[in-house]
Amino acid sequence: MATTSVIEQMRQLIQLIAKHNHAYYVMDQPTISDSEYDHLFHQLKALEEQYPDLVQSDSPTTKVGGQALSKFQSVTHVVPMLSLGNVFNQEDLFAFARRVEERLPNQKVQYEVELKLDGLAISLWYENGVLIRGVTRGDGETGEDITQNVKTIRNLPKVLHSDHFEIPRLLEVRGEVLMPKSGFEKLNAEQEAKGDKTFANPRNAAAGSLRQLDPNIAAARPLAFYAYGIAQCEPNHGLTTMHDSLQWLTKLGFEIAERQYLCNSIQEVQQRYEQIQQERSDLQVEIDGMVVKVDDLKQQQQLGFLSREPRWATAYKFPAQAALTTVDQIDWQVGRTGTLTPVARLNPVFVGGVTVSNVTLHNIGEIHRLDVRVGDTVSVYRTGDVGVTINSNVSSRTQLDFQMAV
Ligand code: IVH
Repeated sequence: MATTSVIEQMRQLIQLIAKHNHAYYVMDQPTISDSEYDHLFHQLKALEEQYPDLVQSDSPTTKVGGQALSKFQSVTHVVPMLSLGNVFNQEDLFAFARRVEERLPNQKVQYEVELKLDGLAISLWYENGVLIRGVTRGDGETGEDITQNVKTIRNLPKVLHSDHFEIPRLLEVRGEVLMPKSGFEKLNAEQEAKGDKTFANPRNAAAGSLRQLDPNIAAARPLAFYAYGIAQCEPNHGLTTMHDSLQWLTKLGFEIAERQYLCNSIQEVQQRYEQIQQERSDLQVEIDGMVVKVDDLKQQQQLGFLSREPRWATAYKFPAQAALTTVDQIDWQVGRTGTLTPVARLNPVFVGGVTVSNVTLHNIGEIHRLDVRVGDTVSVYRTGDVGVTINSNVSSRTQLDFQMAV
């Protein structure tokens, strides 16, 4: 067989396997039977045995993971990872649009609405289409090199390919790592069955997984990456809008969030906000609002930045759903494996559509850290669909995560 067609077959199999891995591990929704999966895997293995020189660096047959690190290396971001300003209501949103449109006189402005994914921002470097580095946001200037862990994320392309255009010499992609809700629930159930500590919410679970020095642990966690921007591209991609950039990224093999909308007016943005808020619980991932971006990249450049925030984008956050209540009792619950978990019994309180009467305190360390005591007034936040946050001491600014106990 010609070398090119062997490589092509290998690439096709790798892509198929990655797709099914994602469906199985991350979305918890297998798309093929186990035996069909095994068949694909064996086909790839057989090809690799026949042509060992052509084995692709991102092949799933070469086990993900590797040596544990003693610590992460610091990496300075060539393009800083900035933060976003926030708006919380229609009035502030319209004021944001006025500021944008005043700086772009006589220009039509379209807005791209994206989900504000509640995970961790990372940056990925690709040289000639090969993933060489993954770095956390850190303080925006300097992050940590988490390449080994990032390589275990199943829906993240390790090698870029496209039938439509040339792969850039250098590409830096920004996006969010998170744990979809289904994977989070499964992981917590497994942790509990093993007698290990459970995670308060998907964001904590994702953060804890990325921070593992042993990539084999990260590899066992159902993490996913969703791209939302391009920091650098050489040669220039020639794209003119945010919307096209996201579509272009999908053609290279990146996954983007499950929804984005192009809006012709700020009123339409407001309508999307109300719609997304309604549909929040149907989404596969946790979000804490949406991000509104000026769609045109030239206009983005014209608008520029004000201190550490772009003038061309803002986060439109969902209101915090909080309520005050008191701790009636702290019980120790015995798990199936005999592990003891402290649970705070609350005076039942209605928060963000659910009545919360129990929250797990996870372990004794958490109790000390929070200094929670019977009779304390606590504020309960609904942080998403799966998490509840409590502030143990209303006058303190420490806000800690608790998981709802069932
Ligand atoms: S764009 C300069 N798009 O929000 C603009 N950020 O406060 C860079 N985030 O740390 C950010 N979803 O982790 C962008 N669709 C999205 C996002 C998003 C979540 C996070 C990101 C960043 C924070 C900014």
